[in-house]
Amino acid sequence: MMKFESEVNSDSNFDYKGRNIRVMVWKNDQVSEKETEKILALARECLSVEGDYVEFGCYKGDTSLMLAELLVENSVDKPVDRLGKDGGKLAKKLWIYDSFEGLPEKSAADESVMGVDFRAGELFVTKREVKERFLRAGLPVPVIKKGWFSELREEDVPERIAFAFLDGDFYESIRDSLRLVGPRMSEGGVIVVHDYTNPALPGVRKAVEEWSEAKKENIRVVLL
Ligand SMILES: C[S@@+](CC[C@H](N)C(=O)[O-])C[C@H]1O[C@@H](n2cnc3c(N)ncnc32)[C@H](O)[C@@H]1O
Repeated sequence: MMKFESEVNSDSNFDYKGRNIRVMVWKNDQVSEKETEKILALARECLSVEGDYVEFGCYKGDTSLMLAELLVENSVDKPVDRLGKDGGKLAKKLWIYDSFEGLPEKSAADESVMGVDFRAGELFVTKREVKERFLRAGLPVPVIKKGWFSELREEDVPERIAFAFLDGDFYESIRDSLRLVGPRMSEGGVIVVHDYTNPALPGVRKAVEEWSEAKKENIRVVLL
């Protein structure tokens, strides 16, 4: 059975060692520091689960950079130069997804008085900018897929997924990303859905509730 947890007020004591990365937590304008710590703690728990890590809706890559750092720090055979060029082997691959055209149009399910600032085209960033941030941070560049989630195909998603962070803000974005990752989740894997309790983004809750009614799988879903 699928287990649901709402852990907005988690008091996790996750101690993240990365020097620069800690600064990035504070700079992230999309995910709070507390949420980030929770996401990283859950991602850490999934290190022993079969499969790769994915993030649907990476935007500038703030959370993606920290997930990449986590994977590098936990590599079996740590890459000497952190880019993996000197023979190191990453524990898992990171795959990140975005339109790189900003948010799509809202559907009726997303309408809310508090959410008027979430408009089509907001949160625009280019794929190149995100790639360059990884290079500047000295981290391995993940698989970066550009496209609308509704247009992604099965082969765009890893065969097995250990950890999924879904942060597409809107009803159809969460619905489509759940459709893609759900069947690929490994036993013991975790899906984290952001904005489930955000009154400005009511479509997120609707998409999760519809999906959970349709699926009865042994997947842990954490709602932030
Ligand atoms: C809130 S931001 C993500 C923030 C990021 N996860 C972080 O931790 O910093 C949402 C992103 O999802 C992308 N997005 C939303 N819906 C999408 C869709 N249907 N297809 C592709 N990208 C989408 C937007 O372009 C935007 O960059």
